[in-house]
Amino acid sequence: MQSIRLVHFSDVHVTTPRLGWRRRDYLSKRVTGWLNLRLLGRGYRFRYANRAAAAMIRHVLDRPPDHLIFSGDATTLAFEAEFAHAARLLGVNQPEMPRGLAVPGNHDYYVGRPVRDRLFETYFAPWQFGERVDSHHYPFAQRVGHVWLIGVNSSIATFWTWDATGFVGPPQRERLRRLLHSLSPGLRILVTHYPLARSKGQRERLFHGLRDWREMLRIAAEGGVSLWLHGHIHKPFVLASERFAPFPIICVGSGTQTNVWTYNEYQITGHRLAMTRRRYSLSEDAFHDHDVLELELR
Ligand SMILES: [Fe+2]
Repeated sequence: MQSIRLVHFSDVHVTTPRLGWRRRDYLSKRVTGWLNLRLLGRGYRFRYANRAAAAMIRHVLDRPPDHLIFSGDATTLAFEAEFAHAARLLGVNQPEMPRGLAVPGNHDYYVGRPVRDRLFETYFAPWQFGERVDSHHYPFAQRVGHVWLIGVNSSIATFWTWDATGFVGPPQRERLRRLLHSLSPGLRILVTHYPLARSKGQRERLFHGLRDWREMLRIAAEGGVSLWLHGHIHKPFVLASERFAPFPIICVGSGTQTNVWTYNEYQITGHRLAMTRRRYSLSEDAFHDHDVLELELR
């Protein structure tokens, strides 16, 4: 029976002191984002982000999995200096790193300019190869053993600081529908930044959720998706209620937020998934096994 091992992490929000401000940035929501980072607590919650991210990559390289999954929010304000720093820290271009799949988070699309300049797609290009239905970048699918990993972009640039909503949109949803139907047989695992719901299946907060979650849930169910992986919510959870979706949903949580810091490893043998959640220890500067869970995928 075929078996693969995946490592999944998200919401690393690594920081760098030199952001490279330009005059136009002072008129954008980057100003309030920066104030939040430096004065209102976000920076404090992520004060060890670089250190935890480095420990996570060391751990990955100790026992390399078959594939990496990164579900977004490499940066905080989507400055190019942050992308360069994140890609270096996460080893995106390191030859000894396993292959990977990456999709952007809302912080990587914080304002319009980095989206137009395709900064995430440039710095994470090595983790964005795959099969596509046409020349559009998203969605794309990567084959790993008996599994298909399918990356969907659920992030958009929004105008207001408080608006952290996501949207896949009708054209990409239609491409996803076609992609899911065109792939050869194999378990289908969908990867987005945004969740479909919160930990017990409740709706996301008004300005924090995926606007077209209902349409995405329907397309995933009709396309035979077996598992949905995401980030965005920083506390990890597993939603495996048939009442909500015909497949389990795993929120990996933040890899680097102080006292939350976790990443997941999935061993998928046939249709059986064994998940190990690893948690960071600041005093030991290392990740340790925290809890395990087994799920049967349809
Ligand atoms: Fe996010």
